[in-house]
Formats: sequence, structure tokens, C-alpha cells
Amino acid sequence: METPKRRSWAEPYKIKVVEPLKMTSREDRKRALEEAGYNTFLLKSEDVYIDLLTDSGTSAMSDYQWAGMMLGDEAYAGSRNYYNLERAVQTYYGYKYLVPTHQGRGAEHIISQILIKPGTYIPGNMYFTTTRLHQELAGGKFVDVIIDEAHDPAAEHPFKGNVDLNKLDALVKKVGADKIPYITVGVTVNMAGGQPVSMANLKEVRAYCQKHGIRVVYDATRAVENAYFIKTREKGYADTSIAAILKEMCSYSDACTMSGKKDALVNIGGFLALNEWDVFEEARNMVVVYEGLHTYGGLAGRDMEAMARGIEESVQEDHIRARIGQVEYVGEKLLALGVPIVVPVGGHAIFLDAKAFLPHLKQIEFPAQTLAAELYLESGIRSMERGIVSAGRNKETGDHYYPKLELVRLTFPRRVYTQAHCDVTVEAVAEVFARRNSIKGLKMVYEPKYLRFFQARFEKI
Ligand SMILES: Cc1ncc(COP(=O)(O)O)c(C=O)c1O
Repeated sequence: METPKRRSWAEPYKIKVVEPLKMTSREDRKRALEEAGYNTFLLKSEDVYIDLLTDSGTSAMSDYQWAGMMLGDEAYAGSRNYYNLERAVQTYYGYKYLVPTHQGRGAEHIISQILIKPGTYIPGNMYFTTTRLHQELAGGKFVDVIIDEAHDPAAEHPFKGNVDLNKLDALVKKVGADKIPYITVGVTVNMAGGQPVSMANLKEVRAYCQKHGIRVVYDATRAVENAYFIKTREKGYADTSIAAILKEMCSYSDACTMSGKKDALVNIGGFLALNEWDVFEEARNMVVVYEGLHTYGGLAGRDMEAMARGIEESVQEDHIRARIGQVEYVGEKLLALGVPIVVPVGGHAIFLDAKAFLPHLKQIEFPAQTLAAELYLESGIRSMERGIVSAGRNKETGDHYYPKLELVRLTFPRRVYTQAHCDVTVEAVAEVFARRNSIKGLKMVYEPKYLRFFQARFEKI
């Protein structure tokens, strides 16, 4: 039954299989946290009660997807599941050519290596960790061209992910369009708080880039969530289906990289999708070196089938309303308690504003890392730092990047947790908020070379 006017986000599914969770004591959690060097990425999953680390690869698959897993055609070449996935990508995203990859960063690697030459610039609407690193490894320099509001957690803008055309134009004037192989447009923007880009902005970016001969490459990881925000916030789209909005969005780009582990409801998988034959040919050749043959790209046939079916489910109106409705539910409760969070609430997560939550800590005392650790200690809920640790270091100066946003991300896996889990989460955050003035910061005692947030270790100051 279609119920588009209903406000409730009640789950449009019922539970068929359950996975028991372990309850831990504060003492257990204190020990686990010390062993993990105060880095939630280094906790063992069995020590976690509610896992809001990420929505990546953590979705619950449907019975339809699991049934598809049994239909895996594990032929080395030409698996029928590849063709099913190709059809799903063409139908729902609208690109002509598909290169499957083991996950999103596999696609980022390939497109970066093909299009980026040393000394070129890649503008983007805020960086994403793996995307920027692959651009840098290919010799490019990332330049942030997102609107200013995106860097202000309290700025209420319905499309905080929008590209600032003036910033883009300033870059083009400074370095020349021939030094810009493409622009990356994240839909939605993870690091800004899961914030969407409007259709109007996507059109403007397209028109500007066409004029200057610059390709547009989307990071389509959460494009379906972006489509939902266009439907609910942008004039003229209320009666358009999510599927139609998604396809229109993609029509303003040349290619996309995709982590299937988010919108597409699978535990592993990704792809690069393109419209240009020449670039596709090169990508199809390169994938053989790094991922696997071009008809499996590092995935089993069954994984491609699950992703093809997940794409189909991801654009269903009831699904996406419930998915984003759950996140909004938690956001509204936290706002009512006066907890500082990024507003408006984004698609996949609640982002606690750690600078406002722990104003007595300097950024170099890692407020967001500290807050994520305290939330785990309080409740067994695992979240993630998205601040100075995630931002890493400037390759040229060696100094930390000091991002304006210092956030803790409470990320909701799709179709996994119940409303009671949401309520426990709100209570736990409120408890840490009540004792926030007594919380001390951290110092970093181990720092790996790449993507340090995954493996860095800390001690209490
Ligand atoms: C916006 C965005 N882009 C790219 C990626 C990378 O995808 P993957 O983890 O599948 O390599 C992620 C993953 O978290 C993401 O959130």
C-alpha cells in the first residue's frame, strides 16, 4: 500500500532472523577501550552493543537478496549476475557502462589513475577520505568547492552539500580548465553530515562544466538518499518517484563511483559506471590488474546478484522514507534535549558537534575522538570520529589539517536497529552530555601513514 502522506517512518519489514547482542559492564568497556587505544575502529565487534560505527556494509539484506545469493553464477568470465547488475545500473542510475569493483575505493582508484595527471586539480564538494587519497596518490590536488554553510554545523540550509559555483569558477580562473580533469560531486556529502545537493545545483554544475570541458564524476554512494531529500525539500519533485529523481540526477554527470555497501544494501561491492566508451575501455582493462576480470571486479557472482537486487529495493519509497525517518527520529530527540548536532539532520547519520559538546578541549586534544570513546564507555554504543584525526595531514607541510567540523558520527545501518535501540542511543548521548564538563581529552601515541583514523592509537591526557 502506498502511503506517501503518512508521517510515520514505521519499518516496512518484519524481522525473520536475529543476531544476539552481548551486554557488557562498564568495567568490560573500560578495558576494551584501553586495549583499543581509544579508537573505536580497534574495538572488537563482540564488545559493542549498538554498532553505529558505519552504515557501510552493515545493512540487513532482504529475503529477496538472500534468495539471489543462491543464484550466484560463479563462472570466472561472463557471469549472468554481472549482466543482472549491469541492467540494474543502467535502469536505475542510467549510465551506459559498468565496471564492478570490490567496493567504492576500488572504483575511486581506477578513475583517479585514468583521469588524473600529476599537477592537476580535482575540485569537490568537501573531501571524502578514500576519494581524496586516491586523487593525491594519482598526483592530483583536491580543492574544496562546497558552499560555506557546509562548514557550519548550525547553519540551516536544505542543501548544504551544494557546490559553490563561484569557488569553482575561481579555481578555473586560477589554474585553467585544462588542469581540471573532473569535478567530484558527492551526493550526499558524508563529511558534511550526510547533506544533500539540490537538483538545481547539479544542473548548474553540469552546465558550467560543459562550458569549460570539465567532466562531472559523482560519488553516488548515497545518491538514493540524496534523491529523497530532493523529493521532500526541493520544489517540483514531491510527486516524482525516487527512481525518476535518481535517474535525472545521474543524467547531469559523466560517470560515478559507487560503494554498494550503503544505498545498495549489500555487505560488500561497488562499481564504476560511465558513459564514455574510451574511458570505460581503459577502466575495463585496468580493473583486471587491480580487482579481477571486468565481469566480476573482485566480487563473487552472488555478491553482484545481491547488489543488483539491493539497487532495486533501495529506490522503493517505503524503504527510503523509513531509512531516513529513523535517523530524523533520533535527531529530533537529541535536539529537544539541547544536544549540539549538525542541522539539518542528514541522510545516514547523526553528527554530534564535538566542538560545541566539549568546548573546553582544544582541537589538538581530539574532542571528537574523545567523545566517541566516552559514548562507548557509557553505553557500549560505537560511533566514529569525523574531525581532525580523519582529516589527516597536509602532504606538503606535514601539519595536521584542522577542519572546521569536529564531529562524532552515529551512523545507522539500514534495516538493522529498532526504535528501542534508537531510544537507548538518545539516552546514552544525554548521559554523556550531562557529565561533559568533567571529560578530559586524548593524545595520539601512534599514527599510521595512510588514513590514520582507522588505526591510530590514543591515551588519556
Ligand atoms: C561518500 C563515500 N565515498 C566513498 C566511500 C568508500 O567506499 P568503500 O568503503 O566501499 O570503499 C565511502 C565509504 O564510507 C563513502 O562514505
